[in-house]
Amino acid sequence: MCGIFGYTGKSNAPLIIHQGLKRLEYRGYDSWGISTIGGDGNIVTVKNIGHLPKSMKLKTEIVNTGIGHTRWATHGGVTIGNTHPHYSTDRSFVLAQNGIVENYTELKSLLEKKGYSFDTETDTEAIVKLVEYERKSKKDLKDAFKATFKQLEGRNTVILLDSNSNQILAIRNGSPLILGIKEKEIYLASDQLAFNQYCEDIVEINNGEMVEIKEGKYKIFDIAKNKYILRKPKKEKLIDMDIDKKGYDHYMIKEIVEQQHTVLKATEYTQKQLSPFIKKLKDSENIYTVGAGTAGYSADQIAYYLRSIAKKSAISIRSYEIESYLNIITPKDSVIAISQSGETADTLEAVEAFKKKGMYISSIINMPNSTLSKLSDSIFMSNAGSEICVASTKVFTSQISFGYLLAKTLAGEYAQAKRELQLLSTNLESFFSKETFKYIEQVAKVLKKKEHFFILGKGQNFHIAQEGALKIKEITYKHFEGFAAGELKHGVIALIEKGTPVISILSDDSNMKDLISTTEQVKARGALTIGIGDKQDVDCFDYFIPVAQSNELKAISNVIPFQLLSYYLAKELGNDIDKPRNLAKSVTVK
Ligand code: M6R
Repeated sequence: MCGIFGYTGKSNAPLIIHQGLKRLEYRGYDSWGISTIGGDGNIVTVKNIGHLPKSMKLKTEIVNTGIGHTRWATHGGVTIGNTHPHYSTDRSFVLAQNGIVENYTELKSLLEKKGYSFDTETDTEAIVKLVEYERKSKKDLKDAFKATFKQLEGRNTVILLDSNSNQILAIRNGSPLILGIKEKEIYLASDQLAFNQYCEDIVEINNGEMVEIKEGKYKIFDIAKNKYILRKPKKEKLIDMDIDKKGYDHYMIKEIVEQQHTVLKATEYTQKQLSPFIKKLKDSENIYTVGAGTAGYSADQIAYYLRSIAKKSAISIRSYEIESYLNIITPKDSVIAISQSGETADTLEAVEAFKKKGMYISSIINMPNSTLSKLSDSIFMSNAGSEICVASTKVFTSQISFGYLLAKTLAGEYAQAKRELQLLSTNLESFFSKETFKYIEQVAKVLKKKEHFFILGKGQNFHIAQEGALKIKEITYKHFEGFAAGELKHGVIALIEKGTPVISILSDDSNMKDLISTTEQVKARGALTIGIGDKQDVDCFDYFIPVAQSNELKAISNVIPFQLLSYYLAKELGNDIDKPRNLAKSVTVK
């Protein structure tokens, strides 16, 4: 993962880089580092582990060129030593990386044989040492950098700050790299969000290109074609990052409450706009939905809607488990890729593999201008606005709202779907009340000391049980497991003992009776039972959280209490809610 930032211009570089990295922290927040070229021509580096400080203490001296990095650890622990940027042996350049050098072990042992020693546990250091080695036989650093890049396996984007030539060099492969241009100032980052408060003229760097930045100018070099290419900036609308918490304590709770609006925003598409895609789906033999993490559960739920509502053959697969499916898919099938960021490495690789098979790719994405959008034949934006909390809430429900609209439109029931979505939105408004929050907070207090939890769902609520468990795991660090209620008696019931919390998701549907009887079975073994869903006149529950009423979108009504439970439980535990440990918002490595 990781975020990369570079700047050269008239402003004070450390300040600009610090602000840029703050906006890139969603890519990783294990540690951060900022390197600038000081007045004496030497590179000065400030780095630390943990989150970036709110502000930077600046020296009086203004420096104009530098690079920064925010890390999500892949190779080597979260230590200052492993924090980027990394110095060359002669300290003339520093280098930072976003990606994984897959042949790092081979490169390291090759370099060790040539006499290089390693001080860190990172794969990045192998890049630094390789550049040093290549420089011995090359005309200049640029050539050494290019030669190094050609030897790296995996998706790697690398940035280098050279004090001898007073310039920034960067090469992209996989992870994004975007230039921002404003008069004599140049910004370079993993995401336009990092500098969009300053400029809207951007230049996208493609895979296999090197960018050279010096004295307010940039040059792009195509490494494979071995020549410079001219690419003028284009205007890109400023993205609204919506960093205002609007009075809420955390982004997570703000984003949860926003769902009453985002379920509608995600489904603003007219029938005419959907029509070409609907035709494509009608003509498809099989529809594969693909995603990872929460987007993977969206993929499951959307496939569920396509099968149950539109009666289409729809198969949900995880982005990182596509290999066996590549043997059976054909160009007569189509793919719906789902991703909040559009930058998830697993999903990008899956889509690249599907494209090679000649498949039609459509994507449901929340972030504009993502890599996934460029790989897709058609794109549907989730329009949920920026989701800053690492745990996805409003984007999940946006994705499945859109999937529901698709399935209903395929079944010829577009207007009914729109009415359902409106009804849900209205009911969510009254669901988000002080009473609801207070009750869920009370349940969270009861659960605070428990360690193992089970969530049961069936039919439309099966994947909601899984997503509910993921949400709570991410923020509370407690062991939650969500599974199909039918599975319980086949083994999991062995884990139930006195006081084990079991949460059952109940909807007024054909599975209600099964859920009640499963709850009775765990109750008989001493479980602490909690119900979430449509309230029933039964007494097998110790606690019951009623949800917003809906006819066909119960999956959405039912997932929201899990989001709230996750929030209040994490709050009780004193966890970092918006930036949970070990995670990053955008998983740009495999
Ligand atoms: O950006 P994406 O939707 O492709 O991200 C996929 C997962 O990494 C993501 O959903 C992750 O599981 C979230 N932390 C879930 O809350």
